[in-house]
Order: sequence, then C-alpha cells, then structure tokens
Amino acid sequence: MARLTEAALDTAELAGKHLVLGLSGGIACYKIAELTRLLVKAGATVQIVMTEAATQFITPVTMQALSGRPVYTSQWDARIANNMAHIDLSREADAIVIAPASTDFIAKLAHGNCDDLLSTLCVARDCPLLVVPAMNRQMWQNPATQRNVAQLRADGVQVLGPDSGAQACGEVGDGRMLEPSATFEAICAFFQPKILQGRRVLITAGPTFEPLDPVRGITNRSSGKMGFALARAAAQAGADVHLVAGPVALETPWGVYREDVQTAQQMHDAVLHATADTDIFIAVAAVADWRVDHASEHKIKKTADHAMPTFTFIENPDILATVARLPNPPYCVGFAAESGNLEVHGEEKRARKNVPLLIGNLGPLTFGLDDNEVVLFEASGITRLPRADKKLLARLLIAEIAKRAPRGGSLLS
Ligand code: C5P
Repeated sequence: MARLTEAALDTAELAGKHLVLGLSGGIACYKIAELTRLLVKAGATVQIVMTEAATQFITPVTMQALSGRPVYTSQWDARIANNMAHIDLSREADAIVIAPASTDFIAKLAHGNCDDLLSTLCVARDCPLLVVPAMNRQMWQNPATQRNVAQLRADGVQVLGPDSGAQACGEVGDGRMLEPSATFEAICAFFQPKILQGRRVLITAGPTFEPLDPVRGITNRSSGKMGFALARAAAQAGADVHLVAGPVALETPWGVYREDVQTAQQMHDAVLHATADTDIFIAVAAVADWRVDHASEHKIKKTADHAMPTFTFIENPDILATVARLPNPPYCVGFAAESGNLEVHGEEKRARKNVPLLIGNLGPLTFGLDDNEVVLFEASGITRLPRADKKLLARLLIAEIAKRAPRGGSLLS
C-alpha cells in the first residue's frame, strides 16, 4: 500500500509566507485590523506599510500590535540601516497586498508614480502585487479608475473585488472592499498552484432530507465539511466549481457556485442537469438510500388509540452510478463510509459504481469532525493518506484527482 508523506500537511494555511500589507487611505482601513489577524493566525508574517492618509483612519500602533512588527510609513525612516526601506521591505516578500487600495493609489500604481514609501516599494518590487480596491461607487465607475484598473490587470496585477453593497457614504453599489474573510480567502487561493485551471468540477456535499410529512423527515449526520473543503480546494486550484449542497449550515467557499437542494431526487436532477458542462464529478454527499413513497401532505397526527404510522420506502436513484454510466461521463470520484472491512468493501464499491477512483473514510466516525483519514481505491491498487484536517486533506485529494483526471475529454471507465 502506498503512503503519502505527512510533511505535505502543514496545518497553518499560510505558514512560511511573508506578506507586505500596504494600507492606503480609506474608511475600509478598519477592515485591515481583522485581515491582519486572519493572516497572522494562518501562519503568515505580515509587514505593514501605511500611507500618510491611511494613518488618518487607523493608527500604526494598532497595526503594529496586530502584526507584531514595526510599521513603516515614511520613505525616510532611519530604522532601516541603509535607508532603503523601499527596496529592503519587499525583498523577502512572497507578495505585496494593497488593502484598501484607494482610487488615488490605484492611479499611482497604474502610472508608476513613486511619491511615498508604499508607492515606491510597489514600483521597486520583485514579487507579485495584489490590490483590494475600496471606494465610493462613482469613484469606482469613473472611466479613469476603470482605465487604471484595466492597466493594472494588463500589467499582471491581481485585482481582488471590489464587492457590491452599502457604502460608508450611504450610497449603494460596486466599490466596497471585500470583507476581511473574503480577502483572506482570495489571498490563500492566490498562493495555490492552479492545477485545475480551466477545469469544470461538480461536487455534491452534505446529507439529503427526505420528508415524511411537511415538518418531519429522514436525514443523516453528514456535516458537509469534506465536500465543502473539496469545493474550496478545487476553486483555489483554479477550477470552475459547482457545488450541489444538501441542507447544511456552512458558508459557501470563496469563488464557488452553490446550488442548494433538499432531497436525493432534487440532488440527482441538479447533478444531471450540470454534467454536460463537467470535467470532474466528485460525489461526497451522504445521499439517503430510500425515501418515503408519498410523503403525507399534512402533519401526521398522534391518534387516540396510539396507533403507529407506517411508511413504505422506495429506493432513491444512485446519483454517482447514474453519472458514471452516462455515454460520455466526466471523471467520476466516489466516497465511501463503511462501518467495517473498508478494504474489501471499498474496492467492491468502486467497481460496482463503475468509477475510476473511490475515496474510503477510515472508520465510521468522520461525520461532523474537522479531520479525516482516507484510502484511495483504484484499479491499480490502494493509496493511504495521513490523517489530516479536512481542509488540508481536501487539498491533497484535489492534487491526487488532478493527476488522474484526463485533460481534454472525459474518461470512459
Ligand atoms: O452506496 P453508498 O451510499 O455507500 O455510496 C457512496 C458514494 O455514492 C458516495 O460518493 C455518494 O455521494 C454516492 N451516492 C450517490 N447517490 C446515492 C447514494 C450514494 O451519488 N443515492
């Protein structure tokens, strides 16, 4: 049995990454306190550089406390031994992130102006530049801003956002800065290799809910965490991700298109509707095997003689097996949770469902937990992966799937 290395499973998402986080002037500076906290918590080292205007909105003292490093605001800061702050501060950086990026700062970047430390540092950089715009909707829509943003994109700068919604000035529209959590997700995604660029990935996740009557139903303990983690990892790897989710209380991962369903039949219909546009189908959902034939239209009442209700069950369609048997199927990946003898049942299930790859959960206790341990079953044999947090395990699984899924056409298994 092959075994993959545990070294790949560093628990901190941004461990080893050094970021220069540059603040230009705008009310969205308040969001950078939280963004800094998220980046530091994820293992990044964060060097804050602020424009003079940014210090009007949030103090360098706050940013120093949150980043744990001295904050730089001036080109003439004598703390850097050779007085070359504009060069030295970025040389160790894996990326410079400008957040918030004001209208004026974007204009400066587009024209290569260098009239303060932050703008000079950006022009002198030898690492990627990410900008997170934040401004009033009219300022965003202004043709000059749009020209400048197009110029930045053409220069290879990553533009994250902006978001749409209520603005500090009371107006509503495009231009507000992405929330700190979305900015954090976009930065994490930036660092992931784009091994699924241009691929279309369809994922089912969570349980299904099969009604007995309008208020009751049958479901299971699937939390959806593994499927959502795979959707996030696939999107971070550059895929176009469509997530069909049963009833779960989870946030939609950054950049993922989500479709909510309740029943197995609805999940089946949503999946079959989407398969023509799919390169890779990953069935993670814990789909109910049966549903009640003719769920009651009204709430089932207790009776005076305590008679128990009786239900007739009918089998739900097997979504994965149905997709795998289509004439021109996407590359299909199944999951299996067994209560025992996984090594026998896993391979048997893979062959029966006619899929090239089946991922078996080791142990029946994975539902709702944050970590998991899995085994890959395929015709050529078995590969065991180390126990890991579901988010990191998802990244490993996406790498394994990307290696196997053929490019430029589907796979007839
Ligand atoms: O047969 P079993 O439920 O153990 O198979 C599990 C795998 O098949 C999972 O990938 C699950 O998402 C998928 N499945 C499905 N439709 C069903 C039952 C299971 O897609 N009705």
